[in-house]
Amino acid sequence: MTKRSTATILNTLEIIGGNPGRMMGPVLLSAIHDMNLATNAEILDVGTGNGIAAMAVALCGYHVTTGEPEGDNWGPWQENVENAGVASLVTFQPFDAAAMPFDDSWFDAIFASGSLHHMADAGAAIRELMRCIKPAGTICILEPTAAGVAMIQQDNADHPPVLDPRDLVDVEPFEWTLKTGEHFDTYYLRMPENER
Ligand SMILES: C[S@@+](CC[C@H](N)C(=O)[O-])C[C@H]1O[C@@H](n2cnc3c(N)ncnc32)[C@H](O)[C@@H]1O
Repeated sequence: MTKRSTATILNTLEIIGGNPGRMMGPVLLSAIHDMNLATNAEILDVGTGNGIAAMAVALCGYHVTTGEPEGDNWGPWQENVENAGVASLVTFQPFDAAAMPFDDSWFDAIFASGSLHHMADAGAAIRELMRCIKPAGTICILEPTAAGVAMIQQDNADHPPVLDPRDLVDVEPFEWTLKTGEHFDTYYLRMPENER
């Protein structure tokens, strides 16, 4: 596994990912660090976009499967992961988050980084994330704050408003933990230990 310093990873995400890379990079790295994943963890990134989340996970040395609906082609994720030198750690598989092609309890970690608010049925997507995560796994959702949305809207006036994933579906027996940030909040969704 190639070891990269936090400074190198953040610099790579900012150079390749521009503004979104600069805003999401530190939040993603902090989440990956908090999650303390095993080297061979099964990791899913929902909503590939420009590949910033997939790059962050891969730059930390993990293999990651990433996907978005067939034909979306949201951004140059492929070029980005190649430029970051982590293409061999990133597998793309097209899917709709509301009906994912994965077995129950398959992943140790699932990231949805800046993607839920772009989905037609984000509630159905959260149900799918809960279906596909292992009982001891972690779902990590990044959503822009009001300040984050305002910043993104400077480049894209049509960007959707703030979304709080906790308002969308009943997640019992899972529980939410919120870590607030300046431009992105991090919502962790986990099964409490006594329910696993
Ligand atoms: C702004 S991008 C997310 C940023 C991206 N995670 C990154 O790190 O660069 C929004 C993503 O949500 C994806 N998306 C929208 N609807 C979706 C759905 N139903 N299922 C999966 N992905 C979806 C889009 O295709 C796009 O890849």
